Amino acid sequence: MTTVAVTLSDLRARPDFAAPMAQRIWKAWWEDKGTTLAQIAALVDDNLDAEALPFALIAHRGDAFLATASVIVSDCDERPALSPWVAAVWVEPQARGAGIGRAIVLEAAHRAFALGFETIYLCATPQRRGFYTAMGWEVLEENVDGDGLIVFRMQSDVAALT
Ligand SMILES: CC(C)(COP(=O)(O)OP(=O)(O)OC[C@H]1O[C@@H](n2cnc3c(N)ncnc32)[C@H](O)[C@@H]1OP(=O)(O)O)[C@@H](O)C(=O)NCCC(=O)NCCS
Repeated sequence: MTTVAVTLSDLRARPDFAAPMAQRIWKAWWEDKGTTLAQIAALVDDNLDAEALPFALIAHRGDAFLATASVIVSDCDERPALSPWVAAVWVEPQARGAGIGRAIVLEAAHRAFALGFETIYLCATPQRRGFYTAMGWEVLEENVDGDGLIVFRMQSDVAALT
């Protein structure tokens, strides 16, 4: 049996993954807010432009979609001055617990630092606190939205150690 390795690709190199990426993000975070899949697909397509930001990463095994993470200009209405953000982190349910989430988040962070950003941000619910702090994210602010949301940050000198 041939085992195909997990690859991390920029969405620009594998635009065929834009549709599954949009569908997962829409289902996870937008469908119940009344946003259409077409609106999310248009946002995902912004990752295909030549500008440095936004960009999206896809973890895949051959042509099988496994996970995604993005680096975007803003992700937190309460903290508009902070940028950029790692966002839309999603691992397919059957692929979880194998280190793919950690790998794609850290790769997104390293690629953001390679663009010259010294500090990057991420917001998540308290249930994800351990997942992010274990890979070097530091809690910057708790309960930023009055509903428990945590803002994390990572600095490029810390990321060099993870
Ligand atoms: C959260 C999510 C991305 C994790 O992906 P994953 O591929 O299962 O994570 P990994 O296998 O890389 O886990 C890395 C480590 O974090 C740990 N971990 C995972 N979730 C955790 C949590 N909620 N609290 C503490 N530790 C956690 C894992 O046990 C693992 O530890 P280990 O390295 O000691 O074994 C995935 O469950 C997911 O897509 N969930 C739904 C969408 C979501 O919530 N996205 C995040 C939005 S902020």
